[in-house]
Amino acid sequence: MPTYRPDLEAIPLYVPGKPVDEVARELGLASIDKLASNECPTAPFPEVVEVIARAATEVNRYPDNGTFALRGALAAFHGVDPDAVWVGHGSSDLLRSIAMAVGGEGTSLVFADPSFVLYRMIALLTGSTPVPVPVTDDYGHDLGAMADAIDDTTSLVFICNPNNPTGGHLSHSEVESFIDSVPESVLVVVDEAYAEYVTADDYRSQLATAPTLPNVVVLRTFSKAYGLAGLRVGYAVGNPDVLNSVKRTQAPFAVTSVGQAAALEALKHQAALRERAVVNAYGRAYLVDALRERGYDPAPTQANFVYFIPEEPAADLGDRLLRQGTIVRVLGDGVRVSVGTDEENARFIRSLDSVRSQ
Ligand SMILES: Cc1ncc(COP(=O)(O)O)c(C=O)c1O
Repeated sequence: MPTYRPDLEAIPLYVPGKPVDEVARELGLASIDKLASNECPTAPFPEVVEVIARAATEVNRYPDNGTFALRGALAAFHGVDPDAVWVGHGSSDLLRSIAMAVGGEGTSLVFADPSFVLYRMIALLTGSTPVPVPVTDDYGHDLGAMADAIDDTTSLVFICNPNNPTGGHLSHSEVESFIDSVPESVLVVVDEAYAEYVTADDYRSQLATAPTLPNVVVLRTFSKAYGLAGLRVGYAVGNPDVLNSVKRTQAPFAVTSVGQAAALEALKHQAALRERAVVNAYGRAYLVDALRERGYDPAPTQANFVYFIPEEPAADLGDRLLRQGTIVRVLGDGVRVSVGTDEENARFIRSLDSVRSQ
């Protein structure tokens, strides 16, 4: 048997949902709606599908390790220097690379609780101590408590804006004041995976300011609103010196050529992307209203999902919903349901009604 690192068992396994077809077969259902992973419920833009097909003919070659064309396009799009952009195999790859660059034995990593499950896993993976800071009563980041949690060991803070799984957002001024209060020796990662869905007026991305600061990196992804989760492309915007250090911990050729080509094309379809955000906001409001009408108290959300804490154990509700044909994500005592198509959203509410009447 190989000799494993002693702390390996303490690193939780990321548990993705089972393949939908398998679950449907097991339960004898004709179809199942997967509203568990905050994916885009519709297919990629048709132009992107064409580009993917063309790019497939060249996969005998390694991809461009420097993602030159995509970085250039992202830099132009966000009005920053290409050196202030780095691309990863999904933003999870960048989260991990960043933690590997600044984390390790003797360091700690501060994040909200609940927030994206990967933060804790990555802390443990890199040998850092995870420091989860409970969210406020309205499920938002408790920035005061997070600032207090920073000590001499802290090397990294994750701010998830909007927060997964609760969905709430922080205003621009809240994030700015927090960043101002953090020592420059601590790297602040602002994870904006759901930024494209935000409709709140007081939200503003940290993208423009991050490259001007010594210790801030913003993360974005093509997995959500752009609808390319299966191709794994995410990017970081920040100070070029920080990004140069982070690159050292990334696997070579991390971003596939098909992913780079698809992301480059997807970026050109901003009007269609905005339309998706409008459709999402409509579905989000439908779910929030329908849950409220049924006596639930969903958390304020600006993302493509809705989070609520049911009275009955969340795992039981999740299981009963699954038997009705909708997979939701159960996280502790909460349930997170992703905004799907109109039909999927309506089916989820019907499933909920049917579960509640049993
Ligand atoms: C907050 C947050 N950050 C990052 C990611 C990772 O996205 P990807 O690795 O697909 O870019 C997710 C995925 O669900 C997320 O919710």
